[in-house]
Amino acid sequence: MDVIHPEIAKAKTLPSNYYTDESLYNSLLGKFFTTWNFVGHVSMLEHSTTIPVSIGNNPMMLTKDESGEFHCLSNVCTHRGMILSEVSTNRRTIKCPYHGRTFNLCGKLKYMPEFDQAKNFPSSSDDLPSSKVKNWQGLLFANLENDNSFESFISVVEDRMNFLNIEDFQFDSKLDKTHHLDTNWMLYVDNFLEGFHIPFVHTELNSVLDYSSYETQLFDNGVLQIGFAKEGEAKFDLPESHVDYGKSIAAYYWWLFPNLMLNFYPWGLSINLVNPNGCGKTIVQYHGLVVDQTKVGLGAGGDIDLVELQDQEIVEACFRGMKSSLYDRGRYSPKMEMGVHHFHRILTG
Ligand code: FES
Ligand SMILES: [Fe+2]
Repeated sequence: MDVIHPEIAKAKTLPSNYYTDESLYNSLLGKFFTTWNFVGHVSMLEHSTTIPVSIGNNPMMLTKDESGEFHCLSNVCTHRGMILSEVSTNRRTIKCPYHGRTFNLCGKLKYMPEFDQAKNFPSSSDDLPSSKVKNWQGLLFANLENDNSFESFISVVEDRMNFLNIEDFQFDSKLDKTHHLDTNWMLYVDNFLEGFHIPFVHTELNSVLDYSSYETQLFDNGVLQIGFAKEGEAKFDLPESHVDYGKSIAAYYWWLFPNLMLNFYPWGLSINLVNPNGCGKTIVQYHGLVVDQTKVGLGAGGDIDLVELQDQEIVEACFRGMKSSLYDRGRYSPKMEMGVHHFHRILTG
């Protein structure tokens, strides 16, 4: 039987042990590897050749080789499992700090001291597992399984957002932020996937958004939420050919399974990456790309730091709630929580 009933009007929400049970946590993380994962922006590799990233629980490393090609490599040494690099570097090789094993930027083993007598060494299993990287408008994605089409992964976003030249957006490292939360990563995603809580939790945001018009659209590997601007608030200038032409749109909030949020505002793009860091710990990384400096701070994309803190308080408190023996699961609002229901269906499908 389905854990989550396919009809939202009949369904119960995800049982609380999905958020608190270590073994379920680990098995759900396995789903990260079957899809494309956001790993960074090209400008992060303008002055570095390697940067540490992660996919699910896997420490990874984003690299740019001599020919300018991007790779996503395991950040775990193939000798005895040392983490190769905790910080960004600008070196031409990757050298393990433990016993000096050295790899090139494509992950190929180049040198290992004291191994002359080792038989059948090196072999391809001594190279770092690697995945090619897709560059979509400057955003870099890696897929450890390498067999899913990137085009079908991104097409819904691309079709709707191609009125913008995302490639020309300026990555602003001053907008980089990292938050450590005491919660399960899925509670952060759940919260992102509904605007139901906006009037209750985000008084300031609610004053610039037209809550009554809020829209949620589902697609195979994600959810789009559209926030509408109240009269006089910052909105997108949409071309006539656009499906949303004539509407006052303040924000496009995209979520791509499992853990990427792309928030488009008239000023640019805010990216949230939700990294699980254990069953009850989550690291959320933020990046910002600016296209129109004059609109920074306006409308729905105005005080996003405040909105973030309000959300963090909620998702940490819900995690404490999940551990209560008196709570197991609830019900969904069929009108307001389609996104959450869709996420839970993907997770448990
Ligand atoms: S663990 Fe890396 S060289 Fe030994
Ligand atoms: Fe929120």
